[in-house]
Amino acid sequence: MILQGADIVLGVTGGIAAYKAVDLCSKLVQAGAGVDVVMTDAATHFVTPLPFQTISKRPVSVDQFRLLRDMDMAHIELSKKADVLVIAPATANTIAKLANGVADNLLSSTALACTAPLVLAPAMDADMWAHPAVQRNVAVLVERGAWVVGPGEGRLASGRMGRGRLVDTSQILGAIRQALGSRGALAGRSVVVTAGGTQEPLDPVRYLGNRSSGKMGYALAEAARDAGARVVLVSAPTALETPFGVELRPVQTAAEMAATVLSALEQADVLLMAAAVADYRPAEVSLQKIKKGSGDLALSLARTTDILAAVAERRAQPDARPGVVVGFAAETEHVLANARDKLVRKRLDLIVANDVSASDSGFAVDTNRATLIDQETEENLPLMSKADLAARIIQRVASLFEVRR
Ligand code: CTP
Repeated sequence: MILQGADIVLGVTGGIAAYKAVDLCSKLVQAGAGVDVVMTDAATHFVTPLPFQTISKRPVSVDQFRLLRDMDMAHIELSKKADVLVIAPATANTIAKLANGVADNLLSSTALACTAPLVLAPAMDADMWAHPAVQRNVAVLVERGAWVVGPGEGRLASGRMGRGRLVDTSQILGAIRQALGSRGALAGRSVVVTAGGTQEPLDPVRYLGNRSSGKMGYALAEAARDAGARVVLVSAPTALETPFGVELRPVQTAAEMAATVLSALEQADVLLMAAAVADYRPAEVSLQKIKKGSGDLALSLARTTDILAAVAERRAQPDARPGVVVGFAAETEHVLANARDKLVRKRLDLIVANDVSASDSGFAVDTNRATLIDQETEENLPLMSKADLAARIIQRVASLFEVRR
């Protein structure tokens, strides 16, 4: 994963949300990143350096005039080692300093000397956030290439509701990953990912669905974003959070997914078709709730559009988009033979085959054991997390573009 081995400098400034930065530090370390924490003096009034030091297993730097003995020129050292500088929470005061090039403490000096991508997670009172001075400062930083995540809406420290909350750790991690990968193997490419299981309504309260959780598709959207791609995620209903930096286009039925995918593909280089699309829908949708009778009920089902077949038809024309199409074959028997048949029939560049009858591979779990099949090769992958599998699939997609070049 992209955070493995990355050097992250985490700046913590003086707001009530500073305690949440401890969780961010922990998640970064768990993901394999090295984390150097720099706190402003004000931040230490909200949370002490100790939890950061304990979790990161590195000394925490506070301000310029209280440097640890062996850390002379700490701002230069930190700024040069950073793959990303993230400031969470970022107060209005620190944002103002960064926008104006003020360097009056270790964190603002580090930021000024740093050429790595800057990620800011602002947190403050809603009226402060809305103030034209803050908005102008943020706009200046965005214009210079900073990645700004949040703030979110909700209950603020004052007890009032409004925009100003530090966003969830998962969103900040998403922004860091996107910043790290911005020059990755799919930079400049546009990727459409489908996810989840479509729902085909039967009446106002019922639908025909399937057991797809959407986890594989969401992991693919994140992995494509981490490789620098612009990502459109066409998703059937799921319980999952939209990843930071990914454009969500929610759909319900196979017909809606088909229309949304075909229109998104006009701008796309890659289609990753991870959704479990219903092959049949109720032939009639009752306008009123179907009441039970004394006997059995027979449903009549009609075929839905095969989205990949429609895409294959489009691609039969010269120079048609997208350049790379990846399908998924979730099978319960004859896994490889069925998958190879779909690769040919749906004119795919790659198919990801997996046996969904295994308990550690398939619906709703976080792991998968897959085989990647293209025209010439068959790569058996070991059991791994869906996030790792997604990264492997994206690597293969990038290499398909390389080969064509
Ligand atoms: N797929 C699609 N449109 C459909 C059904 C499936 O685009 N109406 C896509 C899936 O997203 C997946 C691939 O086709 O990437 C294979 O899906 P699967 O359900 O395994 O294949 P089917 O073609 O439905 O074949 P079968 O029912 O014989 O298993």
